[in-house]
Amino acid sequence: MSLVVGGGLLASFVAYSQLGDDSPNLEIPPASADDAVVDDRDPSLPRFRLADIRKHDGSSPEPWVTLGDKVYNITDWVAAHPGGDVILRAAGASIEPYWNIFTIHKSPYVREILQQYLIGFIDVADLGPDGLPAAETVEDPFVNDPIRDPRLITHTVKPRNAEPPNEELDREFRTPNELFYVRHHMWVPVVEEAKADEHLLTIELPDGDTKQYTLEDLKTKFPTHRVTAVLQCSGNRRNDMTRHAGKTNGLQWGVGAISNAEWEGVRLSDILADAGLKVLDATAPTREVPPKDEADAVDANTLHVQFTGLEAYGASIPLAKALDPRGDVLLAFGMNGETLPRDHGFPLRAVVPGHVAARSVKWLSKIVISDEESTSQWQRRDYKSFGPNEGANPDWDRAPAIQEMPVTSAITGVWVGDCVRRGRVPWLGHPSNPQQSQQPQCKTSQITDLAATSKTVGFTANPTTATPNPTTTAEPTPTEPIAVQGYAYSGGGRAIARVDVSLDGGKTWGQADLVTDRDDDPSRGNKAWAWQRWRFQGTLPAPPLDTINEGGSEKDGQKSCATVVVKATDDAYNTQPESHKGIYNVRGNLATAWHRVRVCLKCVEGKEGQEGRGLRWKTGETVGCGFGKDKDVKGE
Ligand code: MTE
Repeated sequence: MSLVVGGGLLASFVAYSQLGDDSPNLEIPPASADDAVVDDRDPSLPRFRLADIRKHDGSSPEPWVTLGDKVYNITDWVAAHPGGDVILRAAGASIEPYWNIFTIHKSPYVREILQQYLIGFIDVADLGPDGLPAAETVEDPFVNDPIRDPRLITHTVKPRNAEPPNEELDREFRTPNELFYVRHHMWVPVVEEAKADEHLLTIELPDGDTKQYTLEDLKTKFPTHRVTAVLQCSGNRRNDMTRHAGKTNGLQWGVGAISNAEWEGVRLSDILADAGLKVLDATAPTREVPPKDEADAVDANTLHVQFTGLEAYGASIPLAKALDPRGDVLLAFGMNGETLPRDHGFPLRAVVPGHVAARSVKWLSKIVISDEESTSQWQRRDYKSFGPNEGANPDWDRAPAIQEMPVTSAITGVWVGDCVRRGRVPWLGHPSNPQQSQQPQCKTSQITDLAATSKTVGFTANPTTATPNPTTTAEPTPTEPIAVQGYAYSGGGRAIARVDVSLDGGKTWGQADLVTDRDDDPSRGNKAWAWQRWRFQGTLPAPPLDTINEGGSEKDGQKSCATVVVKATDDAYNTQPESHKGIYNVRGNLATAWHRVRVCLKCVEGKEGQEGRGLRWKTGETVGCGFGKDKDVKGE
């Protein structure tokens, strides 16, 4: 359409269309000589004002949407829309922001469907010179999203995807709510706090029967349970896979798409039993002829629990997991002793311990027990993994949806040099004071996966105070104490049996100390659902100060770096693969190879008032720190 609107004409259009109803503006007022307007759109179709279109919102019996300058009556499409009535969220306004989220719609095929519902055009009075409604008239679906903690490292703002910085990630056993990683596919639904107890959960059984519970019902009619469990996105550490194996599609998470919290809620199995779900006794010797009283009972091994959230996200888990008396699947309304925050599913979410967090559906509104998995793209496509050769368009149906997570681990903090000697590591006491050093603690190493800046992880003011090497009788080798910390985790409730740490890129190994958080946790649940924090102390060989150039290289030309590596083994003796190459997949899912972090030496002149000439250990360009490809260790 070509469209030029002069000011005089615009004013007359506004007056003309302020009639208050949505009667179409079929008559186009005559243009004056100095107002050049060309509205060459189909004259047989009516024009509508935006104010009138807004009346056809989701509550109207005739919902309309706009796309570009066109108006569509989608009343007949709603029932047939594969994504369900989420389309109503766009009603009364432009569907474009939603199609920007559900990009599957941006195909000629979907446009053709929409074309069938065309009823007219947006009135020129509401169009800018480009023939489209002004940007500010297009609704922002994210306008009601909560305000987030500025410490979170943001990958995308709309929808919000963010991870805690490493120094906060596992500082505590339970990640504080405001620092828990956030993974949204859409906007955060608004549920009024005052009305939260009225929030409805609908349960549909295999025979089609439905039962509804308010949040208040759940809180008051069923026993409450608390379970400490990790949620981990299958894209955790994806940027590590990208660096070491090749380009991957998806958010380039560092090591922080994982967090650990105590969840409070009711057991899903209790609610399903109350709703009337009867299952065959899985331990019965034969099922061929079920006993009479089991005639209408279903086989949990063949069914799925489909969860749907208020904004239309959906995913499912096998019914067997939901009913496992030791599975600890919760419908949660509390997190770390507080009401579930909006970003994490207020007022109700599923928590499926041991499984990929994609199945822990937030803002839960519906549960369907079905003979098939959720039909959502998050069940049928996104959270699957394929062979290294399979490319971006694999045979989606062939691979199972990711459920239980494999074993993984990551380094979240490194300290080297005097920092360790003086006991200035948060969990290390001063040698002369085993309680805790009185000195200010060193900042954690901040191995962020997003910044290209390198971080100081240690300083040794006078490296000539080298400790003798006890393993040889030769000259004392200068050494630098190193302290490393991180987390390990395995899915399915498998405990971490061992965490191995190497300070030389994987040639020699030692074992990390496993922190005993779980032993004292009253909410530890039936299996190992929480993460295993670990700590390691060792020594790095440090070349004498006078052999190191300011730029970090040794005078013989070799760069002086150490590659710190971690790998974990769970109690089923599953362990992590050495390299990301063998498990590469274009989606970058399940990036669980050994985690490597390089720390490099630099010789520095101390500034006035600071510690003097010495060795500074830096990490930043390092593997595991996420800053471009590290040529030195690529392919390890
Ligand atoms: N539930 C809804 N309703 N919408 C979502 O976008 N994201 C899923 C899952 N549940 C999602 C959802 C994914 S992929 C992950 S990793 C976890 O929520 C993240 O949970 P969190 O944001 O509380 O950390």
